[in-house]
Order: sequence, then C-alpha cells, then structure tokens
Amino acid sequence: MDLETRPVGRDELYAYILSTRRVFGDPTDEASVRLEASIVERANSRTLAAFDRGDIVGTLTCHYFDMNVPGGRLALAGVSDVTTKATHRRRGVMSQLMERALTEAKEEGQPLAALWASESGIYGRFGFGMAMLQENWTIDRKDTAFALEDDSRGEIRFVEPFEAAGAFAGVYDRACRLRPGMIDRNDLLWEVALLDTDEFRQGASAFYHAVYEEAGRVDGYALYRLDGRGQQLRVGELVPATDAAYSALWRFCFGIDLMNTFRADNQPMDAPLPWMLRAPRQLRRATGEEFWLRIVDVEAALAGRGYATEDRLTLEIRDPLCPWNDGVIELEGGPDRAVCRRSGRDADLTMTIADLAGAYLGAVDFSTLARAGRVAERTEGALRRADAMFVTDMKPWCIVQF
Ligand SMILES: CC(C)(COP(=O)(O)OP(=O)(O)OC[C@H]1O[C@@H](n2cnc3c(N)ncnc32)[C@H](O)[C@@H]1OP(=O)(O)O)[C@@H](O)C(=O)NCCC(=O)NCCS
Repeated sequence: MDLETRPVGRDELYAYILSTRRVFGDPTDEASVRLEASIVERANSRTLAAFDRGDIVGTLTCHYFDMNVPGGRLALAGVSDVTTKATHRRRGVMSQLMERALTEAKEEGQPLAALWASESGIYGRFGFGMAMLQENWTIDRKDTAFALEDDSRGEIRFVEPFEAAGAFAGVYDRACRLRPGMIDRNDLLWEVALLDTDEFRQGASAFYHAVYEEAGRVDGYALYRLDGRGQQLRVGELVPATDAAYSALWRFCFGIDLMNTFRADNQPMDAPLPWMLRAPRQLRRATGEEFWLRIVDVEAALAGRGYATEDRLTLEIRDPLCPWNDGVIELEGGPDRAVCRRSGRDADLTMTIADLAGAYLGAVDFSTLARAGRVAERTEGALRRADAMFVTDMKPWCIVQF
C-alpha cells in the first residue's frame, strides 16, 4: 500500500481530530472536535498522519511532556491518538507511524515515550513495556468505616472552577515532585485536566473542586463528580501533599450524602487507603496496566535517573526497532550521578528494551522479570545488584491522561 506519511498542517487539524474520534467512537460534533483540535494546536504537539489518496487513514500524536524519573526529570514523547481507519487495519499503517514517531522523538531529544494503551497486546512489539500498575477501586457506603480516628486538624472547602487550577497546582507539584511517572502540568495541561463538558461528565454532574487546608496552606485536593442515577461518587483526582490531607479528603468523600457507592480509578499501588479501612476486603480492587513506557534513547534514559545504590553493571539490550539502542552498555551510577556508555565487555544481564522499561520507573524488579523468562543473568549476583540499584522509594504513578 502506497501511503503518504507526514505531519498535518493547521488547516488539516480538524479532519485529523475528526478521524481519530471516529475510530474511538468519541463524539464528533463540531464543538468537541474544535476543542480538541485547538488543544493540539496550542500544545504544538507533533501530529503524524497517513494519507491514502488524500484521505487520512492513520494518525499518531506526540505531545511534549516532562516526566519524573527516579531522582530526576526527562523529556517524554506522550503518544496518543493512535488510530487506523477500519478500512485500512492490519496493513502496517500504525507500524509506519510508530517507527517514524520514535525516530523523531530521538532526534528531538526525548529519551522516553509513553502511552495509555487501549489494549495490552498492541505495544510490546514496538518496545513498550508495562511500566506502571494502577488500581481501580469501588466500595459501598456501609464499608467505608476507618480503623482509626481522624486526627487531621485542617478544614475542607470548595473552590470555584475558575480558581481550581491555582489552588491545585502547588499541591500537585509538592505531592508529585518525588513520584516517578508523574508528568509536569503547565497551564494548558491544567486546563485540560479541569475540562468539564458533557463529553467528560458522561451523564454525571459537573466537577466538584474541594481543597484541604491546614494552617492557611492548601495541602490536598479532590476533584469528583456525583452520578445521581447510580448514586455513585466518582473521584477524578485525589492528590494529597500530606498524610493528614489524604485521610481527611477520603473521609470527606465517603461522607457525601445520598451516595451508595464510591469509585476511584487509577490509584497508585502503594496507596495507604486499604490499610486505613476497618474492613479492607470490602474495597474492590482491580489492577490495570494501561501506562506503557518506551525507552527511546537508552544511554540518555539511564544516565538521566538516580539509583538507590552505587554500582556498575553491563546490560545487553535488544532493540531491533531502534537499532541505536541495540548492544551492550555500561551503567555506572548511584544516588547523585550516573553515566552510561557503549561497552565492549560481556554483559551481566541481557534483556529487551521493553523489559528495561518495565523496571525503569520501579514497577517491577529484574528478578521478577528473570523468573518470567524475560531477563537473563550472565554474571552471578547481577540480578540482585540490579534490583538494589533500580528500586524506588515510591511506586510509579501518573494521573495525566493523554
Ligand atoms: C490499534 C490500531 C491502531 C492498529 O493499527 P494497524 O494499522 O492495524 O496496525 P498494524 O497493521 O501496523 O499492526 C502492526 C502489528 O500489530 C498487531 N496489532 C495491531 N492491532 C493489534 C491489537 N489490537 N491487538 C494485538 N495486536 C495488534 C498486528 O497484528 C501487527 O502484527 P504483525 O506485525 O505481527 O503482523 C488499530 O487497530 C486501531 O485503530 N484500533 C482502534 C483504536 C485503538 O485502540 N488505538 C490504540 C489506542 S492506544
């Protein structure tokens, strides 16, 4: 199939977004398409489209983000709008767009790429690894009692929608600074996070914006909706900068009148709530793995993070799609600095680039990957040393959906 692949111009953005929305089954009314097109335009995101005789048949967008990695922060290509028109599936359209997008990310100095995968079977072949687990929670009102008394001393108040970004941003930065996987939010990303059109409400109420304040300072926020039909409260984001704020905000949400159930998707794996409830088994927890990471430039990515222990390891990385990563590298690093360079030495560990992505933010250790048959230990003790180096204080978590 002879396709033209290129970025779209400003005058083609509407058709581009319309095409993605048709594939996902999202609303295609003019207002929704224009809103999304204007966001992509203002973000100056890289758009790539495949054209068949002038028609858009495939799309892929890369956003410019900065993401926390353990002990640092790196440029990330946030991949979204990955679509191929139903008439053109399984003919290599996505593969063509993805290969070009990864090459461009490398050229643009983005050592990492990531996406929220609609299905888990798609992206492993492109070197993306399951790099973060999250939990989706639901709980009935009768089961929301806490084991311990609340000792928070602050107060909760609502803020108006137009005040929310200003009130939330400081907490977000404090809470997320040390969390691997979190993406910096600029003004535009706050605008997107707080978008409140019918499409986002999905039959529920407008957002409620609540903040927890102690000693005159905002220490946490909750963003939620009420779904009157199911009498369900849906937490969109609950972000605390202190333990007191976390406890107070959950107690506040569980205390909202008329709600029978409470739902919170995308909670971090190390969230304390299950340890705070009197009957924790009643919290229904489903684990998801939607966030997939691609290491675009292995030397820059490994040199750009910190490590829990000082050590030196040689890693053989297999990456046929991005051959500049393929081969043996030597990583020498510790808590404050790291260097990574090509090496002629024998490898201590062998793995694919996707496996390295799994361990990179701290979602999984190398020993587990080895037991899964994915990582091979060539030097005795190397797995244990790699685990000790890559371990993170906090589990990776990202609340920016793109
Ligand atoms: C997912 C999607 C973009 C794939 O596009 P495509 O152009 O058909 O993909 P390609 O032809 O380049 O496929 C490349 C490979 O991935 C495989 N693949 C594609 N979609 C897959 C899926 N959903 N599950 C598992 N494997 C998939 C193909 O079989 C092919 O494998 P091969 O190289 O062994 O032959 C397309 O099916 C689509 O638009 N789906 C709906 C929207 C969506 O889910 N997008 C992803 C958002 S994160």
